[in-house]
Amino acid sequence: MEQIQQLKTFESTSLASLVKVQNERELEEWRVVALGKKSLLTSVMKSLADLTPDQKKEVGEAANNTKNVLNEAFSRASANFTVTAVLNSDSLDITLPGRTPSLGKKHIISNIIEECCEIFRDMGFTIAEGNEVETPYYNFDALNIAPDHPARDTMDTFWLEDKDKNGRTRLLRTHTSPMQVRFMEKNQPPIRIIVPGKVYRYEATDATHLSMFHQIEGLAVGENITMADLKGVLINFLKRLFGEDRKTRFRVDYFPFVEPGAEIAIDCSACRGKGCSICKGTGWVEVLGAGMVHPQVLTNGGIDNKKFSGFAFGVGIERIAMLRYGIEDIRNFYNNDLRFLGQF
Ligand code: FA5
Repeated sequence: MEQIQQLKTFESTSLASLVKVQNERELEEWRVVALGKKSLLTSVMKSLADLTPDQKKEVGEAANNTKNVLNEAFSRASANFTVTAVLNSDSLDITLPGRTPSLGKKHIISNIIEECCEIFRDMGFTIAEGNEVETPYYNFDALNIAPDHPARDTMDTFWLEDKDKNGRTRLLRTHTSPMQVRFMEKNQPPIRIIVPGKVYRYEATDATHLSMFHQIEGLAVGENITMADLKGVLINFLKRLFGEDRKTRFRVDYFPFVEPGAEIAIDCSACRGKGCSICKGTGWVEVLGAGMVHPQVLTNGGIDNKKFSGFAFGVGIERIAMLRYGIEDIRNFYNNDLRFLGQF
C-alpha cells in the first residue's frame, strides 16, 4: 500500500537526518518536520478517515509504529543534549570533589539509655516498657501518694483533657515508677526489671531541668532482698558508667513509695569534688533516687510483703549524660543544634 511505503521511507530518512543534528535548535527543527502538524506522519493520520476499515487498520498501525519510533528517537536525542548542555555550562565544574551526604546518627540520649540497659542486663535485669499516658492511680495513689500528699507538688503534672474508656482521668507520667505496681500485678517474684522511657513534668526549664526527660526505673523483688543488694547494684552501675575510681554517696531521702529511701550522688565530673558551677559548689551531683519498696506498694501490686522484699530506683538519663560529658546546660540535648549533637 502506497501510504505504508511512504511511512517507511519517511521514518528512515527522518532517523538518518536526526543523526546529523548538532544542537538543541536543530533538534527542535527536526521535531517540527518529523512529528509536527505539517509532517507526512500527521497528514497520513488525517487521511485515515477516507480509507476502508481494512486499510484504516493496516495504515493506522503503520502510522502509530512510525510515530512511536520517531518519538523515542526524539526523547533520546533530547536527553543527550540536556546532559551535554549541563556539562558544557559554566555553572558546573566537574573537577570539583563530590559533596558527602551527611548521615544521620543515633541521639546521644538514646546511646546512653542503651549503654545503661546493657549494664543492667549484665546484672540479670530484663527490660519492660510502660505507658507514657497513665492513670493517677498508678502514677500516684498506688505509690502511696494520695491526692492531698505534698509529694504531688514535687511532680507538677500535665493532665489530659479526655478521659479513658472507663471514664478515668489521665496524665502524662511524671516518673517511670508507675510500672512498679503495674508489673507486680501481673508477675510474681523473683522480679528484676528495668523500665526506660520518657517522663513529663509541668515545670519551667532551666540549665538542669526539662519538662520532658528520660528515666530508667529499676525494680527487684524476691526473698531476702536487702539494702546491701540495692547498694551493690547501683555502685556497680555507676562505676561501670563513669569509671572505677569514681566516688558515690548515699544519703537518706524521702519518697513515699520506698522505706527507707535514698538519694545517690556521684562526685562531680568537672571538679572531682572540689566544687564548681555544675555541682553548685557541693562537689556532688545527684543522679538517682532509690530505696526499699514500701510494704504497702508490694501489697498494692498483689505481692505478700511478709515473704518478699524489694528495692527500686529511678535514674535521670539526661543528668547522667551531662555528667558523663561535662555538659553545663541540659537544654543542649534538645535544641537540635547539629554542631552540638554531632560531637557524640
Ligand atoms: C523520682 O522520679 C522517683 N520516681 C525516683 C525513684 C524511683 C525513687 C524508685 C525511689 C524509688 P526524682 O523526682 O528525684 O524521683 O527524679 C529522679 C531523677 O530524675 C533525678 O535524680 C534527676 O536525675 C532526674 N530529674 C528529675 N527532675 C528532672 C527534670 N526536671 N529534668 C531532668 N531530670 C530530672
